[in-house]
Amino acid sequence: MSKLAARGRMINGMSVLVYEDSKALYSDAIRPLFGMLRNGNGHPTFGFATGGTFLPFYRAVVSEFGRNGDSFRKARAFNLDEYWRIDPKNPGSYAFYMHSNLYSHIDMGPGMAQLPRGNAEDPRAEARGYEGRIRKAGDVDLQYLGIGRNGHIGFNEPGTSFRSKTHLVKLSPRTREANSQYFSNGDMPRKALTMGINTILRSREIVLIATGEEKSAAVMKALQGPVSPRTPASALRLHSRATFMLDEEAASMLRR
Ligand code: GLP
Repeated sequence: MSKLAARGRMINGMSVLVYEDSKALYSDAIRPLFGMLRNGNGHPTFGFATGGTFLPFYRAVVSEFGRNGDSFRKARAFNLDEYWRIDPKNPGSYAFYMHSNLYSHIDMGPGMAQLPRGNAEDPRAEARGYEGRIRKAGDVDLQYLGIGRNGHIGFNEPGTSFRSKTHLVKLSPRTREANSQYFSNGDMPRKALTMGINTILRSREIVLIATGEEKSAAVMKALQGPVSPRTPASALRLHSRATFMLDEEAASMLRR
């Protein structure tokens, strides 16, 4: 990652990069992904995230793909989460988000990009099946994460066990409020399927991106508060290859 654009430091064993310029943040964030496409193990498995934070990320991926012609044909991807009881054609669904922001622009093979199926008949069977498919693929090589204002990762809300696997969750009122902007006329789902914290921690490398002042308290708790299910993102301190990439605003509450 470029040393000039970011100030780097270790906080409680976690590598933290703070960027003045968000363009530099996103161009560094896509670097390990293209590194794996170019020379990694040849068949990388990516873990993808959604949300507003990742819109500039996918724009950067698509533009780099257009420039260099690197192929995703040998890659595989699993998304972190999906609402439950949602049709993939619903513009608020993460399936729709991934298709319109990434998959319709790159050459990933059919069936190689998966999300939990938000329209599955039995969500518990879907959660078990999804976890099984991730394990069968040999777990995720490079997992991207955002962070919720309450410190959630994926849809693992405060209180979720660090041993959790893919499961069905009831969304907290705070999360529903934050995400209701993506749904018209109050059709915001109440539940979601998400990779668990254990699923995430099994990834070989993790990059968490947070931007904006509204993430600063969650970032501070994750890095400098207790490692506790009360702040799900604090679990990343148990991982040996996790990096936080932050803009100045998201880093603004970190103590020296
Ligand atoms: C959502 C998603 C998370 C995402 C987070 C932040 O609820 N389930 O995976 O990282 O909340 O989203 P945003 O980037 O829009 O703030």
